[in-house]
Amino acid sequence: MARKITMEKLIIANWKTYLSIDKAISLSASIDPNSNIIISPSMIHLAFLAEKFPNLNFAAQDISYITDNFGAYTGETPAAILNDIGVKYTIIGHSERRSNMLDNAITVKTKLNLCASKGITPIVCIGESIKDREQKIHLDVIAQQLHEIFHNIYDSDKDIIIAYEPFWAVGTGVLPLSSEIEEVITKVRKTLNFVDNRLFLVYGGSVSAENAYNLVNLDGLDGVLIGKASTDIEQFRSILKAIG
Ligand code: PGA
Repeated sequence: MARKITMEKLIIANWKTYLSIDKAISLSASIDPNSNIIISPSMIHLAFLAEKFPNLNFAAQDISYITDNFGAYTGETPAAILNDIGVKYTIIGHSERRSNMLDNAITVKTKLNLCASKGITPIVCIGESIKDREQKIHLDVIAQQLHEIFHNIYDSDKDIIIAYEPFWAVGTGVLPLSSEIEEVITKVRKTLNFVDNRLFLVYGGSVSAENAYNLVNLDGLDGVLIGKASTDIEQFRSILKAIG
């Protein structure tokens, strides 16, 4: 049984489709089951890893917006199937799915509700484009995204994890200033003050061993979501060491 996550320096490792199965197994084997980590491996590897490492927390990288149940839905990943293999989390609305797979406010909201009906904790990605930031409308854009996704939020005692991931910081090596991240954190918490669920707020986008310590210690931030750097055992170790 995997340990329940806490708000203390939560780390989400999004492995995207970077790793072969052998690498995914050895990386999973290197993770301390007592750590506050959620791993999001490739969808193809998810069931295998969840069975092989029952003491780790795993997340899907996306979930179906058509259905939450078993049935005739070729190619879909419904919440019921995640439950069936013991996976309790899923990323939804990642910027790569918004730009490549047409995820939008409607599909993300639908996915959120389908997660709720089956008790899957969502990791909801939000963020602004570089154009939004240059035009200084990023805070409005983020508030709008949150309203669209979370209005009429289900009553639930389930956790919700929000990942603030500026699109321009994902995979680019460029990070917002600490003050810019703090400004967004404040906005997110204020905008979602109507949500009763326990809210975790993490930052994602070019997290590395150099910036991780600073990030996890920002006021109001509960942790980080790490992409590329979490797929290299040495880099991931250095990040965990830096975070402490
Ligand atoms: P990155 O990815 O850490 O490689 O920038 C982050 C993400 O996709 O969430």
